Amino acid sequence: MKRITIAIDGPAASGKSTAARAVAERLGYTHLNSGLLYRAITWTALRDGWLSSESDFDEVLAGLDIVLVPTPPTFSVTIDGAWLGREMHSAQVAARVSAVASRPAVRERILVLLQAVERAGVVCDGRDIGTVVFPDAALKVFLVASAVERGRRRVLERNEQPTDENVRMEKELLEARDEIDSSRDIAPLVRSADAIQIDTTVLGPEEVIDAIVALVQERIRT
Ligand code: CDP
Repeated sequence: MKRITIAIDGPAASGKSTAARAVAERLGYTHLNSGLLYRAITWTALRDGWLSSESDFDEVLAGLDIVLVPTPPTFSVTIDGAWLGREMHSAQVAARVSAVASRPAVRERILVLLQAVERAGVVCDGRDIGTVVFPDAALKVFLVASAVERGRRRVLERNEQPTDENVRMEKELLEARDEIDSSRDIAPLVRSADAIQIDTTVLGPEEVIDAIVALVQERIRT
């Protein structure tokens, strides 16, 4: 059966990665989470202390060995041979990743890594996948959800009980990141004209996955 490329973009915590991974599993495709690469660079820069060094940043970045390792049904990231995992989802990384992702050298480096992946049978999620990374993707989906719902989901992901206060704090962090991601000069977060928007505010994960799989089946038939 024909294997297509699926691009899933959208703002922070709109459910992209969960949906992308599940769609890949259902279809026997591979999930490529582009946000992991931005997080991996940010985490390494924080750990090694070159994050705020304007003069060193691009030079150190150029010397890093960044590899996307196939770990079916997804890809993992190694930097200089070290495997990166949960630490990439820390609050410290979240607070800095959008500034790092605005840097031209970072975007150029990650674009090359993503475009080197075999694109037939890939479900790639991020901010600029349908617009810049895989502009020829046969299916482009743009996932959105209300900021309060996105904040609530992130609180639940941390196994915390959502309250007005922790949801509001999380919502503000997500909105700050969306603002930087949407307003940067290179590859901003924007819906591609040919992307299908799905509002997941009142949808459960299974409903989102079913909707995307149905769109894939429709595209394969045409
Ligand atoms: O999971 P969540 O939606 O919170 O974020 P992510 O997909 O892990 O992406 C983390 C950050 O990386 C985003 O806020 C963007 O700043 C950046 N990013 C990007 O610029 N372009 C992409 N294609 C993917 C992520």
